[in-house]
Amino acid sequence: MSKRMWGGRFSGTLDPRIDALNQSFPFDRRLAEQDVAGSLAWSRALVRVGVLTSKEQRTIAGGLEQVRIEFATNKFRAHKSDEDIHTAVERRLIELVGDPGQKLHTGRSRNDQVATDLNLWLKAATNDALAGLRELMLALLDLAARAGDTALPAYTHLQRAQPVLAAHHLLAYAEMLGRDRARLEAAHRAADVMPLGCGAAAGTGFAIDRRALAKDLDFRQIAANSLDAVGSRDAVLDYLSALTIAFVHFSRLGEELIAWASSEFGFVTLGDTAATGSSLLPQKRNPDGAELARGKAGRVAGHLFALVTTMKGLPLAYNKDLQEDKEATFDAHDTFLGVAGALAATLEGVAFAPDRCEKALAGGHLLATEIADYLVRKGMPFRKAHGVAGRLVQHAETAGIDVSQLDLATMQSEAEEIGPDIAKALTVRAALRAKQAFGGTAPKRVKTALATWQRRVATW
Ligand code: ARG
Repeated sequence: MSKRMWGGRFSGTLDPRIDALNQSFPFDRRLAEQDVAGSLAWSRALVRVGVLTSKEQRTIAGGLEQVRIEFATNKFRAHKSDEDIHTAVERRLIELVGDPGQKLHTGRSRNDQVATDLNLWLKAATNDALAGLRELMLALLDLAARAGDTALPAYTHLQRAQPVLAAHHLLAYAEMLGRDRARLEAAHRAADVMPLGCGAAAGTGFAIDRRALAKDLDFRQIAANSLDAVGSRDAVLDYLSALTIAFVHFSRLGEELIAWASSEFGFVTLGDTAATGSSLLPQKRNPDGAELARGKAGRVAGHLFALVTTMKGLPLAYNKDLQEDKEATFDAHDTFLGVAGALAATLEGVAFAPDRCEKALAGGHLLATEIADYLVRKGMPFRKAHGVAGRLVQHAETAGIDVSQLDLATMQSEAEEIGPDIAKALTVRAALRAKQAFGGTAPKRVKTALATWQRRVATW
């Protein structure tokens, strides 16, 4: 006789090679708390349909509490037959309370059970992720504030383009993280739908009041189609894609910090709390936190792609393939929390090096556009003004200087509209101030944008 929960129709035993592959308990034991909570609510629902007496339900509740404690205190003793967390909890419950425990699985399937456990887990996980994101955002805004009026080159094609405030550059990431938050909140809402009461595939055979059950489990919505409820993992995919997109941002921020901290850029220094040493090269200060933010982005994106690929060919409804969702999701979640914290710590250890930033602004003709804009203000059509500025850059290159350093006579040789007042337009500060339309890097705008984000994050 098989000791399996599902052993009734079997007389032989499962080949250990299949059994080993099938085992999910080593990783889905992480759902113990959710599984107990779901079972407890289910036992109450069974009282309402007359399957359990109140007394039996109290017995079950006591047993489940014992199981919960065993997991919470790491005292749960797994059996070889514990295929997954659901069978483990039920097996132990029956051991503890006997007959009433045998009734708990009435009208329920591991299919609606696992989908419910996962959604419960996702709701807590998205909240934890939001807290991690907040911590990172605070560190980002703090660095933007500390950057003060430091300006550095904005790049296009990794060619120096125009001066911007360092704070403006950082606030670009604040926008991205702001959208990440919205995606995590959406993933939370997607998980706030209860599959329980959908049974194995067709729905439960008992007149369960699923609204009341959802209220009991604190779900806002109930899944409306049993096949969808047990056969879909959209909420997991939503979470993984929200994490993946956030990781795109973490990775790009990491990449920039790595570049900025290099001797080639030198725009920032990394304090001792944020740099690691080399075992061989004594001079090294390595940005490992930023590098791992970049490196682990591939891993999390991999989890998303893996599950998307797993899902895409599955017939309705539940298939064991779906068991692959958990390791991916747990690892993506843990990786996200670890990286959000480490990246926050890295930002806390970053300080701008204003003189190195200043130096980078001095070469590269970053103010060439200002010449064109100046000429437009004097009435010249932009396309012509662009041509003038381009030729002046050529003059400057021949002379081996920056375009802002050309003498007035040379400038006037290309456009007589240029007057001595050009000097006032050809400074980094003037260039910054000129970008005064909403969204630009004018210091006043950046100050407001920073204050806006600080105000917003206070309510996160
Ligand atoms: N361990 C399974 C999973 O994670 C639980 C559902 C199993 N359902 C079943 N009919 N075998 O997906």
